[in-house]
Amino acid sequence: MYVMAFDNSRKENLSELIDVLFWSILISTFLSVYLSYLFSNRAIKPISRLINSIRTINSSKLSSRLDEGNRQDEIAQLAIAFNEMLSNLEISFQNQADFVSNASHELRTPLTIMNVESDYLLSRDRSPEEYKAHISELIGDIRKLNSLLNSLLELAHLNRDINIQRSPVRIDEVIYNSIHQVKSRFQDRKILLKINYPEADNDLLVNGNAGLLTIAFNNLLENACKFSDGEVVTEFLISEKFIEIIVSDSGIGIPADQIRIIFAPFKRASNVKYKSGFGIGLSLVAKIIEVHDASCEVTSSVNTGTQFRLRFERIAQSIL
Ligand SMILES: Nc1ncnc2c1ncn2[C@@H]1O[C@H](COP(=O)(O)OP(=O)(O)O)[C@@H](O)[C@H]1O
Ligand SMILES: [Mg+2]
Repeated sequence: MYVMAFDNSRKENLSELIDVLFWSILISTFLSVYLSYLFSNRAIKPISRLINSIRTINSSKLSSRLDEGNRQDEIAQLAIAFNEMLSNLEISFQNQADFVSNASHELRTPLTIMNVESDYLLSRDRSPEEYKAHISELIGDIRKLNSLLNSLLELAHLNRDINIQRSPVRIDEVIYNSIHQVKSRFQDRKILLKINYPEADNDLLVNGNAGLLTIAFNNLLENACKFSDGEVVTEFLISEKFIEIIVSDSGIGIPADQIRIIFAPFKRASNVKYKSGFGIGLSLVAKIIEVHDASCEVTSSVNTGTQFRLRFERIAQSIL
């Protein structure tokens, strides 16, 4: 009898234990699922908020910014990085919009003037001399427009295609060529060339694109002639690693606070109002310098003169 009673109570204890175990496993599983759902939801919420905010941003809303929260945790860092990217995009979109509006303005103004001029010319009969004078003025305007369009196309091409073909180029020949071309347009001007040739000819080689380099030096020399009346000097400084070319004039100079803007498209200094030009030349020069991994330093002083100092890496002798 005693043995039976013992067995029953063991069985009861065991089934109680199984019950307790069953419920505690069930409850703890439920609790852990519920808690992990709760916490993961809380952790994911800021990410979902970020995703929703990002979804509302498009090219016309580049000025909006994401909430940077406490600026500490990873999500805040992500928002900060995204906001930085938005700022850069906003600046480049704004630059592009400015470029298009400036280009349209620069093209429309001379076209309107040419239109008015042509209407005036046709409004009544004129003497052959009058026709000649007006037509040669129109041709002058067409040439200017043509040169602006060519510069804009070159700039667009350079902005699109960074892999410009480069090969060893004799930089002194490029500059002779440029001086020759600029002199044909500014016939009464003196453009001096100062150069101390090294013993080996190929000391003046750079890895470049002769066509683009000619465009760059044409622009620099043209500016020097246009914005000064005296001599223009082109000087070579040749060191072990670099070839420096300094184009200097003693002309009107550039106001100190405007030196940094003159390389941007359509930007001109405030003291050149009565000199012709569109403000595209130096943006081409800047791009050409960039694709040649070269550098440019400008020093200028109003009514004293301006110096553009370009520095190219020399092709090492061992590579040739
Ligand atoms: N040699 C220079 N002397 C004085 N100002 C210069 C010189 N070169 C460039 N600049 C300034 O930089 C501006 C931009 O030059 P550029 O892009 O070639 O335009 P543009 O020649 O059509 O005016 C010029 O309008 C002028 O204000
Ligand atoms: Mg120019």
